[in-house]
Amino acid sequence: MIRKDIIIQFNLSTINKIYLPLIENKSRYLHIYGGAGSGKSVFAAQKLIIRLMMEQGNRFLLIRKVAKTIRNSQFSLLKSLIYNSGLQNYFSIKESELRIINEHTRSEVISAGVDDPEKLKSIFGITSIWIEEATELEYNDFLQIDLRLRGRTRYYKQIILTYNPVNSYHWLNTTEQKNSTKLRTTYRDNKYIDDEYKNVLLNLKNQDENFYNIYTLGEWGTLKNIIYKPFEIREEYPLSYDEIIYGLDFGYNNKTALIKIGIKEKEYYLEELLYKEHLTNGDIICLMKKMGISGNDYIYCDASEPERIEELRRNGFNSIPADKNVKAGIDFLKRCKIFSNSKNEGINKEVLHYSYKQDKNGNILDEPVKFNDHCMDAIRYAIYTHNKSRMQVNIRYL
Ligand SMILES: Nc1ncnc2c1ncn2[C@@H]1O[C@H](COP(=O)(O)OP(=O)(O)OP(=O)(O)O)[C@@H](O)[C@H]1O
Ligand SMILES: [Mg+2]
Repeated sequence: MIRKDIIIQFNLSTINKIYLPLIENKSRYLHIYGGAGSGKSVFAAQKLIIRLMMEQGNRFLLIRKVAKTIRNSQFSLLKSLIYNSGLQNYFSIKESELRIINEHTRSEVISAGVDDPEKLKSIFGITSIWIEEATELEYNDFLQIDLRLRGRTRYYKQIILTYNPVNSYHWLNTTEQKNSTKLRTTYRDNKYIDDEYKNVLLNLKNQDENFYNIYTLGEWGTLKNIIYKPFEIREEYPLSYDEIIYGLDFGYNNKTALIKIGIKEKEYYLEELLYKEHLTNGDIICLMKKMGISGNDYIYCDASEPERIEELRRNGFNSIPADKNVKAGIDFLKRCKIFSNSKNEGINKEVLHYSYKQDKNGNILDEPVKFNDHCMDAIRYAIYTHNKSRMQVNIRYL
């Protein structure tokens, strides 16, 4: 039996209104798609927690294309919602297995990446699934996952898909599914969105129509004029480097991105150290000290924030304003061999969307759209400025 007081503990007023009818929605496929910051991921997590509290013996599966990205997205969101709702006493959270169990209902959440087909195949008894950033998946990946959800279950079986409508040719838009519900939402449906992020989204109108359609209005678009080819993925990086440098893009309501870049034989290996909102300079300094970044390491920073650069210097870091020439920087990076790995969630996501602006007459401009570009900026600051200063030194000594 489920006790009523357990149900009442989840405060429904914390859920954005537009999503309330979906709490009881039992369609096999529940598509929650739309603009950026519309509360899609938070709601998917809320729905899972409600089911974990109210239903017995469920087995929910968290899915993303890359297993390693689940920890910092779906898993950490579920964890923080559990704590924020004061429900932590009901749950045991197994960090290493990415597993969350409700000890009272014996319902649990487990996780798997599409990049780990052996693990996926070994998982049985799934009763519902949440696929985050579903546009990352090929149609075939989806069919395999769909097959995992079969057999008799005590409660309804559901696959929740959350995504931005980035490409109208995508299978998510072109494939008809029986027994599906689709809800499109935008930042306007999220009462928790902050003004700065809202302005970033509104400002997309002046930058690029297509980005505005996708991320602000939540309508299907097509991403084009992509700047970089995705960085090649290497799971094994060199054990030592010729040099190590850092790139730092400051944010507060926007994400701060700090990227460590190992250089070996003129090739670059990226490691995402920070990709997080709401970090003050004090937080960044504290984290950089913990990471062991020394006073000799070059940290190339967003030049438009001289005070923050100076504050880092006063705290013993070798922070340097980066070269501001965006076009030359991008052109330089296009000629470099740059590696990423699957842990770099922000980098790998941003690189797929990072595009040149297109004006109303269809002319492609030399400037990138300023949106979800924090890692891209940090990487360019470091690699381009570092090389430029080296070139100048070499010329001086010729
Ligand atoms: N119910 C809620 N309670 C508190 N904060 C919320 C809630 N829903 C959304 N937020 C806030 O709004 C932000 C954006 O929400 P969320 O990440 O769910 O958006 P999204 O639609 O998944 O965005 P994206 O398309 O960029 O993935 C969250 O980081 C959180 O700060
Ligand atoms: Mg989301």
